Amino acid sequence: MQAHRKIIIAIDGFSSSGKSTMARRLASAIGYRYIDSGAMYRAVTLYALDNGMVDDDGKLHESEIIESLPCIKVDFEVQPDGTQHTVLNGIDVEKEIRRLRVSNVVSPVAAIPEVRHALVAMQKALGKERGIVMDGRDIGTVVFSDAELKVFVDASAETRAQRRFKELLEKGSAVSYEDVLANVVHRDHIDSTREESPLRKADDAISIDNSNMTIDEQDAWLMEQFNKVVKA
Ligand code: DC
Repeated sequence: MQAHRKIIIAIDGFSSSGKSTMARRLASAIGYRYIDSGAMYRAVTLYALDNGMVDDDGKLHESEIIESLPCIKVDFEVQPDGTQHTVLNGIDVEKEIRRLRVSNVVSPVAAIPEVRHALVAMQKALGKERGIVMDGRDIGTVVFSDAELKVFVDASAETRAQRRFKELLEKGSAVSYEDVLANVVHRDHIDSTREESPLRKADDAISIDNSNMTIDEQDAWLMEQFNKVVKA
């Protein structure tokens, strides 16, 4: 591939919109680093769950979570097959953070302003050298408002729930489609109505609805957007 200036690519969208797949595949095709910012919120949530900071009814011990932020270290470790695993305080938690137990409480944890400030600072540091594709909810609006390419991904709630359901089944989780759909709809609501940096399309982001697109079509579309920016 022709040498070009390194840019930042911000991919935001609703949960299970397929943005991680798009982001990961583009990063691998163009030799950029991929960062799943949602995994960082999930890791903090797992820490809170495992340290008794979430009651059985989902109530958060907010001040305890905030106080423990300096003790929570999140890293990403590249695997031999090129995929990345999320590492929480030295332990590979990639599988754990994807479970419904974490999905069910991650949105309220991600709505705590102090949690966001800590993770946004880490995310900004990861993008210092540019050459990064990061996906999340506020990457184009807050984390990298200067990103050269911003994409906002959408798909219907049913399509997204179907995808997440299939993914969970493949991982061996015993869940029902109805529970997954309810979780998707509930998280959409919390993510887009919270006070602190809610999910919203950046004014200069390009939108894509991938409900009826194949992964290959998505990849081709994104590569085209990337080429337009770097060749401009
Ligand atoms: O993308 P995901 O479903 O793994 O994200 C998990 C949660 O983290 C989601 O409910 C919203 C939150 N999140 C966020 O608030 N900001 C980000 N940049 C990424 C994720």
